[in-house]
Amino acid sequence: MPMLDIKNLTLEIDNGTSRVKALDKVDLTVNSGEIRALVGESGSGKSLIVSAISGALPPQFHITADRMSWNGESLLSMSTEQRREIMRRDIAVVFQNPITAMDPSATLGEQLEESIPDELVKGKWFWQRRQSRRKSAISTVHKVGIKHHRHYLNAYPHQIPTDIGQKFMIAMALISQPKLLIADDPTRGMETTTKTQVLKLLTRLNQTRSLSILFISHDLLAISSMAHTMTVLYCGQSVESGRMKMLRKRPLHPYTKALLDSAPSFRKDLPPKSILPNMDGIIPSLKHVPIGCRLGPRCPRAQKDCVITPAVRRIHDHTYSCHFPLHMEKL
Ligand SMILES: Nc1ncnc2c1ncn2[C@@H]1O[C@H](COP(=O)(O)OP(=O)(O)OP(=O)(O)O)[C@@H](O)[C@H]1O
Ligand code: SF4
Ligand SMILES: [Mg+2]
Repeated sequence: MPMLDIKNLTLEIDNGTSRVKALDKVDLTVNSGEIRALVGESGSGKSLIVSAISGALPPQFHITADRMSWNGESLLSMSTEQRREIMRRDIAVVFQNPITAMDPSATLGEQLEESIPDELVKGKWFWQRRQSRRKSAISTVHKVGIKHHRHYLNAYPHQIPTDIGQKFMIAMALISQPKLLIADDPTRGMETTTKTQVLKLLTRLNQTRSLSILFISHDLLAISSMAHTMTVLYCGQSVESGRMKMLRKRPLHPYTKALLDSAPSFRKDLPPKSILPNMDGIIPSLKHVPIGCRLGPRCPRAQKDCVITPAVRRIHDHTYSCHFPLHMEKL
């Protein structure tokens, strides 16, 4: 049974005059000990999935799902307290814009120490517990590669550079020793050495502590070397999902192929709104979503039948939604 199990997640955004379907029947699972990559162009809905899982949704967002569960328990039907407890103890999220997710009125040290669950703090007396919190905070910031901990732990969010903010949010997420880490583009804009350091740390935590990770990134080269499985999202729909090795070797969906083919050609992260080298056009706006397969107008394999929405098909643990998939003869 997957730890995180999402089936047919739909998220509609109400903008007052109309509703758009920003996520449409998305399926996503994360198994225990797995690193799953979630990829797709800018605007495909990756961060919306993170918001839906975290439960931090503005009132204009409306969610439905056939299943959205954590270790078999439905996240949608549990009480707010239960959900908060899971987000406090089991699932940690690194949101996409780290600085805006911080409390501007507290120092980094205060925020980090506050995030340590009571049960992980050692000592009986308050000074022992204060020392224990301080020690964990220092060792965690070192782990994520922040040097000069004295300086940064005493700083306020507006006093720190962006890359320290990014690393700090990873520290905030890891300090509660979660079972699942959801990291939304945590290394965007980082210079290569720092990025490698963060990716190595996450891989090590996955291997040594069995930390499961849902990793969102535009950096397909990095992600494809560390993730075990991958889900590809296009325009609010999960179009293909399976083991990373299989997807790299024989992607069935034309969009997955275009994404993967674009990877070796960029040395840095694929910038937002960039055009895929092997696919015309850009991702449509949610107000002008094509009927049938949403990739239709951009797809080199599109035919008449593609005006009908393709169903999800499954071959073992590989799923895809396309009427005319690639590589079928080799399966
Ligand atoms: N608060 C909001 N109100 C209206 N539309 C929104 C809101 N948040 C996101 N959207 C729309 O939902 C779609 C998906 O957005 P999302 O931020 O999830 O994309 P993403 O895949 O995370 O992109 P990126 O890679 O740039 O982070 C976009 O079309 C976006 O404009
Ligand atoms: S269903 Fe048609 S348009 Fe959609 S990805 Fe497959 S071939 Fe392309
Ligand atoms: Mg995003």
